[in-house]
Amino acid sequence: MTQFPQSFPATRMRRLRQSPWIRSLAAENVLTPADLVWAIFVHDGEGREPVASLPGIDRLSVAEAANAARRASELGIPAIAIFPYIGPEGKDETGSGALAPDGLVPRALRAMKDAAPEVGLITDVALDAYTSHGHDGLLDADGTIPNDATIEKLVEQALAHAAAGADIVAPSDMMDGRIGAIRAAFDEEGFTNMMILAYAAKYASGFYGPYRDAIGSAKSLKGDKKTYQQDPANSEEALREVALDLAEGADMVMVKPGLPYLDIVHRVSTTFGVPTLAYQVSGEYAQIKAAALNGWIDGDRVMMESLMCFKRAGASGIITYFAEEAAEKLG
Ligand code: PBG
Repeated sequence: MTQFPQSFPATRMRRLRQSPWIRSLAAENVLTPADLVWAIFVHDGEGREPVASLPGIDRLSVAEAANAARRASELGIPAIAIFPYIGPEGKDETGSGALAPDGLVPRALRAMKDAAPEVGLITDVALDAYTSHGHDGLLDADGTIPNDATIEKLVEQALAHAAAGADIVAPSDMMDGRIGAIRAAFDEEGFTNMMILAYAAKYASGFYGPYRDAIGSAKSLKGDKKTYQQDPANSEEALREVALDLAEGADMVMVKPGLPYLDIVHRVSTTFGVPTLAYQVSGEYAQIKAAALNGWIDGDRVMMESLMCFKRAGASGIITYFAEEAAEKLG
């Protein structure tokens, strides 16, 4: 009788990989359209306007944004995050356009809610699209970004979004204490059910390049954002940021950028057990698209793989420019 050599393994990991059905049964994570938040850009013009550094992504008119809301509903994408392009004529030193109750974002919110009330709408609370210097806050003569004076503006901006029908405001400015101030203002004004998604761990990243083109702040940005956004070298600091934002009244937190910061996504989701979203930012999208357009990688495959990796790391949702494309593939 032949003896099996001792070296044959009792456990063969490949048994569970041998065909699609067993691989799907053994899969630890799934990706569905319900995991996606669709990031869109809106502008005040007509129709769609391509963004050169984000192939396949257009700035949408208010009417097109309403169509996008209907499309999200059809595709099972639960929410849309709205980012405005404001032309040079709409920018000033203090970003006053951000506070206008009838500004571009409030108008987009109303049109989108009208078109598809079942789709959640998330707004960006920060001044960068509206300031002539491109910073997320005010800019003092000595080049500093004043924290508390900026918060007063952000509170007004958040209230304008809430009044226009936003479901979630997402402060992305990284000022200290803004979550608490916005929460207090919401409570005072009767917006007790407004949700706050804090960009809690947001890093000073080179991956935001194409976004700044898309919102028209790339050319105008004076200096960098390192005095308010986090240092990519740090992760303990991210946990402190998250703890503070939760204590101030955030309902959900976000980590941004995404893939290069999956360790942070994982630590935040396991440490706090709160809904943790990850933002696959513009530079991440652009890298994948550029390589795919050159034929260097299989774009669809890498898109899906990158999104699944967020799930594996513990993200409860992913803000991504791929949302429509990925949801179409997921069926
Ligand atoms: C700033 C904001 C930024 C992004 C979202 N909100 C850019 C920045 O901090 O300079 C970047 C998103 C992306 O790159 O896709 N309010």
